[in-house]
Amino acid sequence: MERKVYKNIINGEWVSSENTIEILSPLDNSYLGSIPAMTKLEIDQALDLAKIGGKKWKEVPLKEKAEMLNNAAKILEQRSEEIAMLLMHEIAKGFNAAQDEVLRTVSLIRYTVEEGLRMQGEIINGNAYEKNSNKIAMVQRVEIGTVLAISPFNYPINLTASKIIPALIAGNSVVLKPPTQGALSALEFVKVLVDSGIPAGVITSVTGRGSEVGDYLIQHPQIDFINFTGSTEVGERIGNVSGVKPLLLELGGKDPAIILPDADLKLAAKEVSKGAFGFSGQRCTAIKRVLLHEEIADEFIGYLQAEVALLTVGTPFENADITPLISVSSVEKAKRLFDDAMSKKAKALTEFKNEDNLMWPVILDFVTEDMDIAWEEPFAPILPILRLSSIEEMIRVTNDSEYGLQAAIFTKNQEHAMEIASKLDVGTVHINTRTQRGPDNFPFLGIKKSGTGVQGIRYSIESMSRIQSIVIKTK
Ligand code: NAP
Ligand code: G3P
Repeated sequence: MERKVYKNIINGEWVSSENTIEILSPLDNSYLGSIPAMTKLEIDQALDLAKIGGKKWKEVPLKEKAEMLNNAAKILEQRSEEIAMLLMHEIAKGFNAAQDEVLRTVSLIRYTVEEGLRMQGEIINGNAYEKNSNKIAMVQRVEIGTVLAISPFNYPINLTASKIIPALIAGNSVVLKPPTQGALSALEFVKVLVDSGIPAGVITSVTGRGSEVGDYLIQHPQIDFINFTGSTEVGERIGNVSGVKPLLLELGGKDPAIILPDADLKLAAKEVSKGAFGFSGQRCTAIKRVLLHEEIADEFIGYLQAEVALLTVGTPFENADITPLISVSSVEKAKRLFDDAMSKKAKALTEFKNEDNLMWPVILDFVTEDMDIAWEEPFAPILPILRLSSIEEMIRVTNDSEYGLQAAIFTKNQEHAMEIASKLDVGTVHINTRTQRGPDNFPFLGIKKSGTGVQGIRYSIESMSRIQSIVIKTK
């Protein structure tokens, strides 16, 4: 794989910085490339130009915007293999999952363009409110200005695009702050946008460690909207320092799988295994706890163990199900949670095993509410099972979480599932399927410490645009 010194796109030019950050592969610590570590002065200059770029973008007809973005979809599709290969090296994503992330983004771009072309307005009649009104309001959605998009390491293509593309079709200019680990992949996506013909200054990238440049970006006067996906810890910090700027925050999760006595236990076991261990558990929407009715606990666990035993552990190039985590610190956090649970009498159904940042899947049975893993979010292949005696208990344990992203309910009684779903304090409930963000046209939201605002193609366009109303007299 080619090792490259990456640059940032600023006003249509690829620009380097004096200082750089080396990006190493989590597979073998090999050097993959470097990115600029921008200074505050460089950021100021970039964001001033993004503001000018946004004014130019506003004048581009929507149909032309659509053509450029569809061109980007075509270029991304053409480059999908090389970009997927980079994902495999940079974030250790398995071959199939890496290919899927890129091709899923091609579909996201095309669907977003179609939604953007149909975001029409409305006419409101004043005389529907006042009998002698002679006014009408012409209401449409327009751009907000410059959107700061900040994306996480686990989907550096799809979760970058899921912010940038709706923002662009809504008429905004975009400044992307990619994850440092994932920046090479994200910058390849930015290059696709540049090569698609999007005018200079409309898309800008700023790289640097979030801990060093994050606050400055969030508070920058040239930023009009912040669209962040990442940890709750960082999201809360952004909320505190952002002032009155509009925000869209997609944060952490602790999604439960609720397994009722009448569930199809084999189906539930398959879905829980995929949901908990997909991309080695490094998904916000991963199933991160099983709330299991004690009547069928042993039977379900037998099926789950059989499913987990089928998971392959290895490298992305072997297309292994479980690949190395993004860092050894992810393994250390999982081990801390494991040790705490074991010290409080949990039962490990599989040993805790790792080789550096490669961690084998772990199932913990007899997890109780006094254990940290019942509530904390590991970003690793470790799954706690809580055996509970009633659906009321399952609802309470679900709602007692500080998170509220998603939940899955497994039962053959659809009506009962709908009734339970209405009582769960989460953004989305899946019935008889694992928790997940896709399809990307569905609304995607977290409540409580899982976020604020709604993503999902049309919802993202609405979130990153505002109403403009023009009132005229009719006679
Ligand atoms: P993270 O550490 O919060 O980083 C996310 C992004 O924020 C990165 O681009 C990071 O840059 C940047 N950042 C860090 N500190 C910042 C600051 N003070 N101000 C502004 N930006 C800052 O999260 P991650 O490790 O990439 O992803 C894992 C976490 O994100 C998990 O908690 C997961 O649940 C959550 N997540 C949620 C969703 C969702 O849709 N709800 C999706 C994916 C992940 P650097 O890389 O330079 O630090
Ligand atoms: O953590 C990333 C989040 O967006 C999960 O996406 O499609 O794997 O559920 P997905």
